[in-house]
Amino acid sequence: MKVLVTGGLGYIGSHTVVDLLNENYEVVIIDNLVNSKIDVLDKIKKITGKDVTFYEYDLCEKEKIEDVFKKEDIKAVIHFAGLKAVGESVLKPLMYYKNNLMSTINLLEVMKDFNVKKIVFSSSATVYGEPKSLPIYEDFPLSTTNPYGSTKLMIENILEDLYKSDNSFDITILRYFNPIGSHKSGLLGENPNGIPNNLMPYIVRVATGKLKILSIFGNDYDTVDGTGVRDYIHVLDLAHGHVLALKNPKTGLKIYNLGTGLGTSVLELVTTFEKVTGVKINKQFVERRKGDVAACYAAINKAKEELGFAPKYNISDMCQDSYNYVKKNKDI
Ligand SMILES: NC(=O)c1ccc[n+]([C@@H]2O[C@H](COP(=O)([O-])OP(=O)(O)OC[C@H]3O[C@@H](n4cnc5c(N)ncnc54)[C@H](O)[C@@H]3O)[C@@H](O)[C@H]2O)c1
Repeated sequence: MKVLVTGGLGYIGSHTVVDLLNENYEVVIIDNLVNSKIDVLDKIKKITGKDVTFYEYDLCEKEKIEDVFKKEDIKAVIHFAGLKAVGESVLKPLMYYKNNLMSTINLLEVMKDFNVKKIVFSSSATVYGEPKSLPIYEDFPLSTTNPYGSTKLMIENILEDLYKSDNSFDITILRYFNPIGSHKSGLLGENPNGIPNNLMPYIVRVATGKLKILSIFGNDYDTVDGTGVRDYIHVLDLAHGHVLALKNPKTGLKIYNLGTGLGTSVLELVTTFEKVTGVKINKQFVERRKGDVAACYAAINKAKEELGFAPKYNISDMCQDSYNYVKKNKDI
């Protein structure tokens, strides 16, 4: 079966492509390289020994997507492509709305025209806003605090309306919690442009000396040690969730949380990193960051029951693999 993976050279996309190839899917990637590098393609081939068809296209250009659907016998789509930096989305909201919404609407229109009705979409735990209680279930109220999150929620709404209008669509919305870690080979990992926005890419850069000090935003939250609590999931487990979503016999519109169901504080993550790598992380506490919630972790019962989702890796594995990636890639 041929699967189109948009954003397939990015962090989560590339790991998912490897998993798909290992499961004998044929893969076509569209990526405009706005936040990824072309050498990821060779790395995917090196890991799997398999070829991928790649189009360096921008999904905001609809005729480019049509070109791919004309040439390739696409049966399903996994849609990762999008801009994802929360802070940047606050500074450049129009860029975020334009890129994330236009690309998705173009893609859905072309899918409808070519009668391809199966799609898995990358949403985010950010759509839960400030959760009313923990753990977070899929039917909790939704709200957002920044333009990036709003694009995710808007796309969820678009997908729901599309399904109401045409229930031959088979739509899976996956709400990711906090992916970290890297491929075991050290060839693939998270390599954001500029100063990292997320915790683990920051920690590893302090570990290698690229950045001087880790700023921890807030140590007065009502949590185990005052620092923010998140549900970290190994990117390999997250990637596998997409393969499970493709194989899911249940059709219709489905929404699943993908996390581990376990909360880990910033300090716990830093301490585990130091323990497994033997590298001390220089850190300081600073003011809380606007829009951050105290704690956020998933209920994953639904993904377990319906998808057979079972995360394999723990926080130590995630730290070890993240560090392994930066050690093997000196340019990071
Ligand atoms: N990483 C996280 O913490 C996280 C959490 C929740 C949800 N998500 C979502 O998961 C998806 C993948 O995240 P990621 O961490 O792999 O991000 P990423 O930036 O590494 O990958 C996204 C890819 O999409 C490509 N892209 C962006 N706009 C495009 C366009 N218009 N046309 C073609 N390609 C385009 C980029 O070049 C990049 O390779 C994103 O939609 C993101 O919002 C990520």
